[in-house]
Amino acid sequence: MIQDEQKRAVAIAAIEHVPVGCIVGVGTGSTANYFIDELAKIKHKIDGAVASSDATAKRLESHGIEVIDLNNVDDLPVYIDGADEITEHLHMTKGGGGALTREKIVAAVARKFICITDQTKLVNILGNFPLPIEVIPMARSYVAREITLLGGQPALRQGFITDNGNVILDVHGLQILNPVELETTLNQITGIVTNGLFARRAADVLLLGGDLGVKTITH
Ligand code: A5P
Repeated sequence: MIQDEQKRAVAIAAIEHVPVGCIVGVGTGSTANYFIDELAKIKHKIDGAVASSDATAKRLESHGIEVIDLNNVDDLPVYIDGADEITEHLHMTKGGGGALTREKIVAAVARKFICITDQTKLVNILGNFPLPIEVIPMARSYVAREITLLGGQPALRQGFITDNGNVILDVHGLQILNPVELETTLNQITGIVTNGLFARRAADVLLLGGDLGVKTITH
């Protein structure tokens, strides 16, 4: 299967994980877009969706799926989203599309995080994909210096502003041997809004699209 077919296959498989009558947390990116298109087919069976970005909200609404403010949601049984890299421990790098902050918020609320990716995203060690970090604009240079001290090479994502009005530093050159520790360290740097490591709150299930179909990995 080619990569796009694998993305579609995991999106279809994810529908099995959506309980009837629930509100669904929905991620951002090309794989999440396939999921939204599948969700539209069962929209009469759900109560609505929480979106992790303006782009996702738009796509959900274009399908006639109600987008609900997370502040009005008590229970979010499931969050379904892609990743830029994921390990067999289900630690992830996310934020390639710049939606990491809202993604991390929705993931924090959800009882279950189901990650949907094609097989190219599965890695032994995170870090080959540059780690996205959302930063308050006035802190950009300070945060870049702090990240350099940690051994990374930050690059400002050119011409990009997040849904929250911030900038993104993409950090190259990291070999992330302990994602939980690095996520915690980055959380302590003033001016960082969110870092793209999803390790403290990892995925619960990975639906991995490969040449032979969809494999389910849990931890
Ligand atoms: C969006 O900010 C990201 O976290 C995406 O979830 C991630 O980049 C995966 O996107 P694709 O499904 O397009 O690869």
